[in-house]
Amino acid sequence: MTGEKRTILITGGAGFIGSHLVRHWLKNYPEDRVVNLDALTYAGNLANTEDFSSLANYHFVQGSITDADLIEQLFEKHKFDWVFNLAAESHVDRSIQDPLSFVQTNVVGTTVLLNACVKHWSLSNEMNLSAKRHLFYQISTDEVYGSLSAGAYFTEGSKYAPNSPYSASKAGADHLVRAYFNTYNLPVLISNCSNNFGPFQFPEKLIPLTILNAIEGKKLPIYGDGKQMRDWLFVSEHCQAIDVIAHKGKLGETYLVGGKNEYQNIDLVHLIAEMIDDKLNRDKGTTASLIEFVEDRPGHDVRYAIDASKIENELGFSPSQNFEEKLKETIDWYLTNPQWIKDVVSGEYRRFYELNYGNT
Ligand code: NAD
Ligand code: DAU
Repeated sequence: MTGEKRTILITGGAGFIGSHLVRHWLKNYPEDRVVNLDALTYAGNLANTEDFSSLANYHFVQGSITDADLIEQLFEKHKFDWVFNLAAESHVDRSIQDPLSFVQTNVVGTTVLLNACVKHWSLSNEMNLSAKRHLFYQISTDEVYGSLSAGAYFTEGSKYAPNSPYSASKAGADHLVRAYFNTYNLPVLISNCSNNFGPFQFPEKLIPLTILNAIEGKKLPIYGDGKQMRDWLFVSEHCQAIDVIAHKGKLGETYLVGGKNEYQNIDLVHLIAEMIDDKLNRDKGTTASLIEFVEDRPGHDVRYAIDASKIENELGFSPSQNFEEKLKETIDWYLTNPQWIKDVVSGEYRRFYELNYGNT
């Protein structure tokens, strides 16, 4: 803990990683005030925030980061010290169907936030780079670097080469954040993380989709040949990394965050299938028989993998958790939270805030 009192804006805090980050922050920095701004799109779920929503130093606002008037009012009212921007359209498949909404939120929305920071924070050429009186922290993705061949790793110096509308929009946002550092001296940090997994992840992403379908005995779709590789990181480790980077990272810099858990999709789905057989006392191979190879994702990146030496060597962070244990814990969470699943699958989770916050 720092002992300093800060007012923190976390955007996208009703989503998967955002809700974990708000929880992490309230637990570790109880002297801070956290404002969670979330548009409550299909990916936002107030059930993800239930365990901390009544805390006195937590405040939820429903709204979009693209709404410049709202952002202005919030900056005026709350005088934010630090901003963590997690609000995003985050799913690659959806970006192929509807690229414009990704540009709106990920590029335009990020720029609206950056403009508010420039307006409300007094920035000088003599900016004290270590003090971090203010901070704009952009949570980004390793997908901005495109696809790797075997044996190669992304580093902070890798060339940007996004292949999907999602990753292109996140790349655009990263460039804007860097441009605001160089042009306006805005104190910024960017981290680009690999694939996260854990509780509260919306079941459109590979791991929760596989777990839910497996529990329900539905098909487990594998795109293409299933040999694409991802590097998996448990979500609370990502939050820990964000915390370390925010406090110890050098302003203007980028840090890569990875899990050192590279799996081919097909092997990962087989592993989950075995774990589900075990947990549900099914005969070995029962769940794997649900695997179905389906049409590949257009522009599908073959492999992502992170060289995390910068964050390890400069900030002393490396992921510590055992992947298989955390995967089992994640499966247990979905098995023991049937109401969350039921509400998400039926769409009931949206009814609560349609009633309470209007029809968004
Ligand atoms: P998510 O889709 O679960 O959550 C996104 C949240 O943002 C939702 O609550 C949604 O309602 C909100 N949101 C969307 N548009 C908004 C807008 N215009 N204004 C305000 N709120 C809005 O996403 P996630 O997986 O938790 O990802 C969070 C961030 O982390 C994203 O920026 C994503 O690019 C990045 N990231 C994700 C991963 C991953 O594996 N999930 C890995 C690296 C980086
Ligand atoms: O690398 C970080 C990124 O990870 C984040 O920036 C994104 O927000 C997040 O969605 C994730 O992107 P991916 O495209 O890697 O995740 P997804 O879970 O959609 O897919 C993981 C891999 O599994 C990918 O190779 C596609 C494949 N897949 C996915 C689904 C949903 C399947 O084979 N079948 C599926 O049904």
